[in-house]
Amino acid sequence: MKLWIPFAISAGSLLTIASFVGAGWDAPPVESEQIGFRGTGMYVHRDVENQEALKLANVVPPAPWEADPSGDRAGDIYENVQVLGDLSDDQFNQFMASITEWIAPEAGCNYCHNPENLASDEVYQKVVSRRMIQMTQAINVDWQSHVGQVGATCYTCHRGQAIPANYWYEDLEPKPAGGMTQNRAGQNVVAMFAGNSSLPQNVLKDYLLDAKQIRVHSTTALPTSANLAGTKETEATWSLMMHMSESLGVNCTTCHNSRAFNAWDESPPQRVTAWHGIRMVRDINANYMVGLTPVFPDIRKGPEGDVFKVGCGTCHAGVQKPLYGVSMLQDYADSLTRKGPTEVPDFASYQPGTTQRMAPAGDAPTTPAAPADVTPPVDPVEAAPPADPAAVTPPADPATPSTPAATPPATP
Ligand code: HEC
Ligand code: HEC
Ligand code: HEC
Ligand code: HEC
Repeated sequence: MKLWIPFAISAGSLLTIASFVGAGWDAPPVESEQIGFRGTGMYVHRDVENQEALKLANVVPPAPWEADPSGDRAGDIYENVQVLGDLSDDQFNQFMASITEWIAPEAGCNYCHNPENLASDEVYQKVVSRRMIQMTQAINVDWQSHVGQVGATCYTCHRGQAIPANYWYEDLEPKPAGGMTQNRAGQNVVAMFAGNSSLPQNVLKDYLLDAKQIRVHSTTALPTSANLAGTKETEATWSLMMHMSESLGVNCTTCHNSRAFNAWDESPPQRVTAWHGIRMVRDINANYMVGLTPVFPDIRKGPEGDVFKVGCGTCHAGVQKPLYGVSMLQDYADSLTRKGPTEVPDFASYQPGTTQRMAPAGDAPTTPAAPADVTPPVDPVEAAPPADPAAVTPPADPATPSTPAATPPATP
């Protein structure tokens, strides 16, 4: 008689029980919210314990003081104010105090300035900050279809840190050894930018920098030439969807009715907001982040040498609306809700420690012609985002897979 069988079964059961009871296993109290009709499976599940931590991490800091908008303009008082010149002196100082708290509370003003000469651009963080001011203004002015009236400040991403907690870069490691393992199609490793799944690890570049087609769904029972997407493309889309869900701390059902992932008329309205968000993030990355490549030192770049880029989690940080939808803009209306000059300097000419003034390309006769990202190339389909999110109908479904891709402008 095979006596070992009952022993093996009992040992197996004991091990299973131990793994549930033992360390690392936590059955969190889960909060479920019904967000659609009964029977459609439209629920969002949240870990209650995480919610407490998230609430503490998403408190909006107050402005240091209420700024007086009257008096002489900063552009007239100071030597090298290129973007915020229209602020009053008090507003300008309040803004400097705020960004110090938002970006470098410990290092203080000197994180971006040579204390001997505040006008100098020799500290690279100052050059980056000036471009980030232009970027934040563009988010609040051009992308209300996504950020609404809540908008964004530096704090939305930075939260008191020089480098935001959530960003992404080209992720190709570990590189295959060669031979038959040469192409693993970005799969079969822990993809940290796809919610630690084993889905393709490097798709954010295609969708959140380049404008690759996301839709893969067929609307006919049999294949037609209208949709050539196969399993490979679908996995890449899924990888992006994992990034989006993890970034917002939500389930797929926050944006989709899982009965038909493609159908816009059955999707919750959040999906339309997300659609604009994808276009906004492409604009941020292609026109602001990539252009700064020559200014950032190597330690601020990924293993492939690309700058850290913005993803959904850079602002959202695990919640459905960044900072629970509380706006900080009322205290920064003049600095961040309208655009100052939008000229871009030739960042390739930047010499850290030396350059005294990064002039916009037009100002300095020695710099070459304006870099391509002064006027980003306009994608015919995705031109100027409409201001009113409510009035927007997402593009017809099914999508024409021929949507031309907006190539990011060449790095100046
Ligand atoms: C995160 C980076 C950063 C920090 C921290 C910072 N600044 Fe600035 N500062 C800038 C940028 C960028 C400009 C240029 C703005 C422009 O061109 O519109 C500037 C310009 C200035 C100027 C104008 C100098 C001139 O003559 O052109 C003064 C004065 C100034 N900052 C003071 C301060 C003080 C005081 C602090 C600390 C409370 C501070 N800054 C902290 C980024 C920073
Ligand atoms: C949409 C998100 C986002 C917003 C808004 C934003 N930043 Fe950033 N910022 C980033 C990311 C991502 C990086 C990291 C880039 C890298 O290191 O390659 C960064 C880097 C920086 C750095 C460089 C820090 C270092 O030590 O290298 C400075 C300085 C900075 N930002 C200032 C600002 C200021 C000032 C504002 C507001 C006017 C701002 N940022 C708004 C995303 C953002
Ligand atoms: C924050 C909102 C949001 C979340 C969460 C989300 N999606 Fe999506 N999904 C979208 C948007 C927006 C599109 C369309 C993108 C476009 O067309 O540019 C889309 C497209 C898709 C498509 C392609 C549909 C088609 O027409 O071919 C699939 C499949 C999909 N999502 C699956 C998922 C899965 C699976 C999850 C959960 C892991 C998920 N999504 C989570 C917003 C979301
Ligand atoms: C620059 C910061 C920023 C980035 C980056 C960002 N968002 Fe948002 N998002 C916001 C703000 C601010 C709101 C709140 C808008 C409001 O309440 O009107 C928001 C709202 C949303 C909502 C609506 C939530 C609701 O319940 O109404 C969805 C969905 C969303 N974002 C998805 C995304 C996705 C997907 C990405 C990445 C492709 C993304 N966001 C990137 C700032 C950002």
